[in-house]
Amino acid sequence: MEHTKRIEELTNIINEANYNYHTLDNPTISDYEYDKLLNELIKLEEQYPNNKLPNSPTQKIGGVILDNFKKVIHSVPMMSLSNAFNETDLVIFYNRISKIIENPILVSELKIDGLAVSLKYVDGLFVSAATRGNGIEGEDITSNVKTIKSLPLKLPQPLTIEVRGEIFMPQNSFHKLNEERMANEEPLFANPRNAAAGTIRQLDSSVVASRNLDIFVYTLVDPLNHVNKQSEVLGFLSKLQFKVNKEYHLNSSIDDLLNNIKHYDLIRKNLPYDTDGVVVKVDDINLHELIGYTAKSPRWAIAYKFAPEEVITKLNDITFQVGRTGVITPVAELEPVLVSGSVVARATLHNEDFINDRDIRINDYVYLRKAGEIIPEVIKVDLSKRNNQTEFLMITNCPVCNSVLVRKENEADHYCLNEACPARNINALIHFASRVAMDIDGLGQRVVETLNSLGYLNKISDIYKLEQYYDELITIEGFGNKSIDKLIKGINKSKENKADKLLFALGIKNVGAKVATLLLNHFGNLENLFTATIEEMEQIDEIGNVIASSVYEYFNNESNLEIIKELKELGLNLEYEKVLVIEHIFNKKVIVLTGTLTNYSRNEMKALLEERGAKVTGSVSKKTDYVLAGEDAGSKLDKANELNIKVLSETEIMEML
Ligand code: IVH
Repeated sequence: MEHTKRIEELTNIINEANYNYHTLDNPTISDYEYDKLLNELIKLEEQYPNNKLPNSPTQKIGGVILDNFKKVIHSVPMMSLSNAFNETDLVIFYNRISKIIENPILVSELKIDGLAVSLKYVDGLFVSAATRGNGIEGEDITSNVKTIKSLPLKLPQPLTIEVRGEIFMPQNSFHKLNEERMANEEPLFANPRNAAAGTIRQLDSSVVASRNLDIFVYTLVDPLNHVNKQSEVLGFLSKLQFKVNKEYHLNSSIDDLLNNIKHYDLIRKNLPYDTDGVVVKVDDINLHELIGYTAKSPRWAIAYKFAPEEVITKLNDITFQVGRTGVITPVAELEPVLVSGSVVARATLHNEDFINDRDIRINDYVYLRKAGEIIPEVIKVDLSKRNNQTEFLMITNCPVCNSVLVRKENEADHYCLNEACPARNINALIHFASRVAMDIDGLGQRVVETLNSLGYLNKISDIYKLEQYYDELITIEGFGNKSIDKLIKGINKSKENKADKLLFALGIKNVGAKVATLLLNHFGNLENLFTATIEEMEQIDEIGNVIASSVYEYFNNESNLEIIKELKELGLNLEYEKVLVIEHIFNKKVIVLTGTLTNYSRNEMKALLEERGAKVTGSVSKKTDYVLAGEDAGSKLDKANELNIKVLSETEIMEML
């Protein structure tokens, strides 16, 4: 039939054009010609949907809309890598490897700053993609990954394989996306990695298609079926038409490796995508088992992290913020400067000691970098540029209410102790309503500030009295009844929150979300905490004297108890249902592995079991709880049967894991 052939022909031509353009970076047809062919194919597929091929390039446009992402268990866990932050760490790694194998050859690859993905092909056709998740279980992102232009939907050979790589957002796609978001007054992404992660979790695959993600593939699961070396894996993947990073290097000595890493740190600034380090792997894959694994990562590889970019800028001023607990934080007001991809004008200076230890003075030039590439950090002063700046002096009074600040013994922070301090109050209110605390829809920072300035909101309990002023509130500029209705609904809903939310929302010093849950899990409701002693609190694992004293102090202050009593009268929930912490069935169990596993190496399985608290031993005895029998299990299996020990198959154990 004529159209069948034409559909096939168009599919092939367009896929080849995609490959040439997006993978080889070598366009072979004009955009005009491409669009014309693609439109023809779209029309034919609409007319003859049954003839649409599984590798049709029209899938790259997206269109699938999901309700959620399904969970998938990885056939082989996706491990992570241990990190090296300097040359010494690399030398230690190299020496450790050299003790096991003589003159190791190491392959170094750029560490692409994106998110790991696992891709499955059956008989050469792309069938599914999953995120790393927790390494064992990820999420099915097949329909989103299909939209990545450089991803082959069909391999040149009908192979059934699993490969892994990194999805990333090229810098130009990232800048374009943020420009669009700025124009639409949407929040910007901090960096290409966050943008890629946010994009891959979109439920509508056409949004993904429009954002131009890309992918580098670097791992072949079960490589020994095809090749013996990691450097050959890269060549093999490239032949299969995957996009493989050309920058990799074979190193036969530690000096070679260190030089190569310096070289990569230089060239990375000119690459069109972000890299955050170099991954170093033992090239000979046959040696990997011998070198082995820790619970979380292979010992035959390491991730060297590039030192973050440092820039110098002028410190124009030091200002002070008053937090919700009254803590005073000095803030560096900087001459705006570009660092690791975004403009920075402010950075925390933490406290008096931080500033004095580094002798930071107003009008100094300071070195700045982004910690974890996100939070700006002042590292040190450029003393060569100093002239006559006067020494920093910590303020003595609250910049907002002017009360005398107090620095407690053994603490670096200064506090404003005035409970009526407006700055403390407003920050306490913002924290109380925030998403991580009481999660009151419609009561974000701006609304809190407005309602506070108009006198409706001075303390926490006022939130739950706002409804009384409904008629007045709807007349405030920028509000109206729709938004006030939403706000009231959000406020009333928050009354039902379990008490751990409320405890965290109160903003007690040293009580984060996790501590709040631990406390309530132990004490059952908020009122029981009124009379709890420090010793009783310290009974809880993970709660020490500092936290316990801080909670004790809070609940032994009459005005704090008044707040909570008032909240109770206003209808807030002070109760907490305990959650049972269930231990894994393998916890403290003694397990023996025998025979060959199909989905995991022995070491990987051992690591998985140990993570869940099991003890993996070498020989079967009366103390053994389970024997995992893979293929061709021998005498250990016989012994298990003899001693009547429960034998599990690999599938059974995977389900139990
Ligand atoms: S190999 C056992 N190679 O870095 C894990 N990883 O810190 C083997 N990454 O989870 C990973 N570029 O998301 C490898 N060329 C590369 C990489 C790379 C980026 C990421 C990957 C991995 C993380 C490990």
